[in-house]
Amino acid sequence: MVTPTRFFNLFFLIMLFSFPQSEINAQMMVQSQSSSVFTLPELGYEFSALEPYIDTETMKIHYSKHHKAYVDKLNTSLENHKLKGKSLETILEMVMENDEDMSVLNNAGGHYNHNMFWKILTPGGGTQPSGSLEDAIIKKFGSFDEFSTKFVKAATGVFGSGWAWLSVDKNNELFISTTKNQDNPLMKNVVKMTGTPILCIDVWEHAYYLKYQNKRADYIANFKQAINWDVVSKNYESIK
Ligand SMILES: [Fe+2]
Repeated sequence: MVTPTRFFNLFFLIMLFSFPQSEINAQMMVQSQSSSVFTLPELGYEFSALEPYIDTETMKIHYSKHHKAYVDKLNTSLENHKLKGKSLETILEMVMENDEDMSVLNNAGGHYNHNMFWKILTPGGGTQPSGSLEDAIIKKFGSFDEFSTKFVKAATGVFGSGWAWLSVDKNNELFISTTKNQDNPLMKNVVKMTGTPILCIDVWEHAYYLKYQNKRADYIANFKQAINWDVVSKNYESIK
């Protein structure tokens, strides 16, 4: 008599020998690698959601083409690399500025930076900082307006492609900094001013040129209207 258990075992053996061993090994490898493969995160809102500050077409290309390319190239550059399997934050802390790591450095930075960029923006216009972040901004910069002026000046002054940041240093002090290319303040072997970022602005031309052309200052002024200060405040709280 064929019991359900015997039937299952027989079915399993038939299935096992129905597939070439190489195919079974390949499937197991894909499963074992999945935990170290980086993926494009959910945007969380529509491409049109940040209108009129950031236009739909720019959002579509920026997210679907530029950010996706950083993710894909990061995965490719980590194949057979000593940092494969590490968290994104660990990779950023460990990368060096040399030929071997340049692709990992640029694409890990591109992935991390854009992850934060999408999260600190909000549909429907920005809010204002509150609570302990508001207190910290006033303590460091004197007022929110003074912080805002300094942040805009930093972002406007980035030569070529790069980013401006508001970060927290090892003494829990806020600081504004800028980085070139896809560098960021977590890259302690690469940048001078290191800390944990809580706010960023992308000033690569791909972030604004379709709508603003060469008017970076107009883009920055409108970007400020779309900052999600609730998320920035949570970023700050998570560091303290
Ligand atoms: Fe970008």
